Order: sequence, then structure tokens, then C-alpha cells
Amino acid sequence: MHDITEYLAKNKERFINELIQLLKIPSVSADPAYSQDVINASEAVKASLLEAGCDTVEICETNGYPIVYGEKIINPELPTILVYGHYDVQPADPIDLWNSPPFEPVIKSTDVHPEGAIFARGACDDKGQMYMHVKALEFMVKTYQLPCNVKFMIEGEEEVGSENLGTFVAENKEKLTNDIILISDTGMIANNVPSITTGLRGLSYVEVEVTGPNRDLHSGLYGGAVANPINVLTKMIAALHDENNHITIPGFYDKVEELSKEERAEMAKAPFSLENYKKALDINAVYGEKGYTTNERNSIRPTLDVNGIWGGYIGAGAKTVIASKAYAKISMRLVPHQDWKEITELFKTHFESLAPDGVTVKVTPHHGGQGYVTPIDNNGYKAASKAYETTFGKTPIPQRSGGSIPIVSLFEKELKSKTILMGFGLDSDAIHSPNEHFGVWNYLKGIETIPYFYYYFTELSK
Ligand code: BES
Ligand code: MN
Ligand code: MN
Repeated sequence: MHDITEYLAKNKERFINELIQLLKIPSVSADPAYSQDVINASEAVKASLLEAGCDTVEICETNGYPIVYGEKIINPELPTILVYGHYDVQPADPIDLWNSPPFEPVIKSTDVHPEGAIFARGACDDKGQMYMHVKALEFMVKTYQLPCNVKFMIEGEEEVGSENLGTFVAENKEKLTNDIILISDTGMIANNVPSITTGLRGLSYVEVEVTGPNRDLHSGLYGGAVANPINVLTKMIAALHDENNHITIPGFYDKVEELSKEERAEMAKAPFSLENYKKALDINAVYGEKGYTTNERNSIRPTLDVNGIWGGYIGAGAKTVIASKAYAKISMRLVPHQDWKEITELFKTHFESLAPDGVTVKVTPHHGGQGYVTPIDNNGYKAASKAYETTFGKTPIPQRSGGSIPIVSLFEKELKSKTILMGFGLDSDAIHSPNEHFGVWNYLKGIETIPYFYYYFTELSK
């Protein structure tokens, strides 16, 4: 394969500017106020795929936001790579914590990104990482060296649970046939410690509502005499963990895969500094399930977290009131073999059982999905590993991530193919947080590395 560095050097300004244009579109899938922008982003992705050299690109309508499907088929006999990514982004709020407006991208350098990073919502998750694939295809096509077929499936509902993608995949199995699925929507350890994500956690997301009296009450006249839904809700939530931070839901751990001593020892070899971890988050101690290290807690162990809690008076000053209702949004991150629907049921039964007389509880499941583990003995992993060796000069470390891309397990079920997770983001890139950014170096490194994946995967498939 021709060296890509020359092409990159010539085109990098344009590559950066094109991404900046895409980042200006506020494609927030969670908020209906942005629905036109989400649709505009799908059109922009379509245009970019055509420009990069796809033969055909379609906007596939769903019951929600469209899926952009594009392909470049050079020879049906050759291997086919299916690239998945998403053009939707998380909401930007809290907006006042951004140092520059979330949809007006700026490049600034940081300690870990001395070459500069692009600050914008979606810079890393996932527009920047998805766009690396568009530019990698462009390079391969424009230099006449594409060695395989490439298909793109870029969706606009990832951040809200990919509800319509499952149906699309099930109804388009033929069209989506592939030999390997390639996704850049995860991270790596550090710019000098490349890693490939080999696992994702599953997810169950629920909302709970605790109702006490039929109206808000004077907290002097009624306080102490009726159940206060907020007091009760917080007590119920507190009861979901024991003193060792184990989750107390009966049956929750039944299917959790326990890693062997050897596997845990292997995991512990990945470079990690607890001191730096604490420093980066400005905390004086880590916290979590007894008996496990920080890296185990955030990857191979299941968790339960309150993501939001509200009720009562939160305006200026003080109002003496007992609210009629209290609410919380709770997520559970799951590990392989835990079934998200089963866990959702276990949660519901247990949570309802925790409610004292005097309140009623409603549990509403949102979305969820299964976890995933990528084997490292297949051609996909081997090709990715060789690609990183070529461009980073180092063998990447396999590492399980704590995040979720629920659709990956569904791909395996429906399309019978494995997924390789070549992520180029860093944990410090602040995805889902204010001041999300993506290193310019990482963006260009991704564009440089992906073509080698095409090349090695095709070689290894011969
Ligand atoms: N790209 C992330 C997932 C991710 C990030 C995995 C970093 C591993 C490392 C994805 O966009 C995401 O945010 N997923 C959601 C789940 C989804 C159902 C909303 C998540 O993990 O919270
Ligand atoms: Mn993502
Ligand atoms: Mn995300």
C-alpha cells in the first residue's frame, strides 16, 4: 500500500475544515427542537460519502431519524467491510459550562493534545471518529488502491437507544452482508499507548416515579405525618447498594461472568496510574465495589447509577413544601451474559418491593442492550492490530471498555459478523460532557490507520 502520509500532509487542512462544517450542525437526537438539524446532518453525511467515492448513497427513512447507507463495491468476490457510526450527538447542556459554544467548533491545544483539539459537541462522539472513515475511503479511492468492498451505515439515533436500527438491520440483511464490522466510537488508553476495545457493557435504563400524597403539602402542617416521596426515593436508592458497594437486587449477579485470576492479571498489565486518574478528576479517592480495581470496576463489573434525580422545590430561596412526587433516572451497566430485559424485570420487582406503605412506585423502562466481547484470535482483530503496529509503531493492547454500543450484539445476532472497535478518542476528551473535544492528532492518526485495516484484512482473508 502507498504511504498515506503524503496525502494527509496535502489534505489535512481540508480534512479538518470539513469536520468543522459537520460539527456546526446541532444534530441532537434527544431534543425535538433540533429535528431539522438532525435531518440536515444526515444529508451532509450522504454528500460526504458520495464525494469520498461511494458508488451509491441512500437516505433510508425509519420511524425516527434516517440511516445513511452508502457502498463502494469493487468486486463481490473480495471481502466486505461494514462501517457503522452515528451522526447524532448528545445534548450540549449544561451550556454555561462550555468555554466556547458547542456548535461553533474551535481548535485549542491542551496538555494531552499539544497539536490542538477540536472543541465541539460530537467532535469525538461520534462525528469526528465517523468522519475518519469517510476520509480513509476517500484516500483509498482517490489513490486507486481500495483492496476490498466497503459499506457504510451511519445512523442518527445512537444517543437515544438506536430504536429503529434493529428493524432496519433485520429487514436489510442482504444489503448489509459483510465479512467484518468496523466501528470507531470508543477510545484508546493514550496517544503513546494504543489499544483496541475488546468489550462493551450492556445497559438497562429505567425511570422511577414515587408518588405520596395527591398534592404538594405544607411541610410544617404535614411534615412528619405522611411519607415524603423524596425522602422515600433517596432511601430506596440507597438500599440498592450494600456497604461493600455490591448491588442488592436479588439475582442481579447470577449470570455475571467471573474472570479467571489469569485474565485479571492480564488486564492489570495495561498501563494505568491511579494518581493521575484521581488528579484528572480532582478527587481524593476512588470509590466502588469492594474486591475490584478501578479498571475492573469500570469494565468487567456491572454497575447501577442514578443519572438524574428531581422533585420538590429547586427554585431560588426556600419554599417549605413536601412534594407529591419524586423521580430518578437510573442506569445499570451490564456485563456479558447478563440479559438486559431480565435485569430490567429484576430491578422493577425489587424496587417496587422496597416501597413502604404510603407511597406508590412506577418503574418505566427506557432502553437497553446487551454487552459484547470481541475475540482477539480472528482476522479482524489481527488486521486491526497490524494496522496500529504500522502507524503507531507499537502493538495495541486489548482493553474492555465500560461504555455501551448496544447495537453491536444485535449486529452479531442478525448479520452473524464480528465487530472490531478501533476507537481513537481519549477518556479525557469529555464525551457527553461540556467542552467535548477530539485531538487533531487523533483524528489524523485514525485516517492514517483505517486504510491499513482495509489492506491487512483483505490480505489475511486470502
Ligand atoms: N460512543 C459511545 C459509547 C462508548 C464511548 C463506548 C466510549 C466505549 C467508550 C456511545 O455514543 C454512547 O454514548 N453510548 C451510550 C449508550 C446509548 C444506548 C445511549 C452510553 O454508553 O451511555
Ligand atoms: Mn458514540
Ligand atoms: Mn455517546
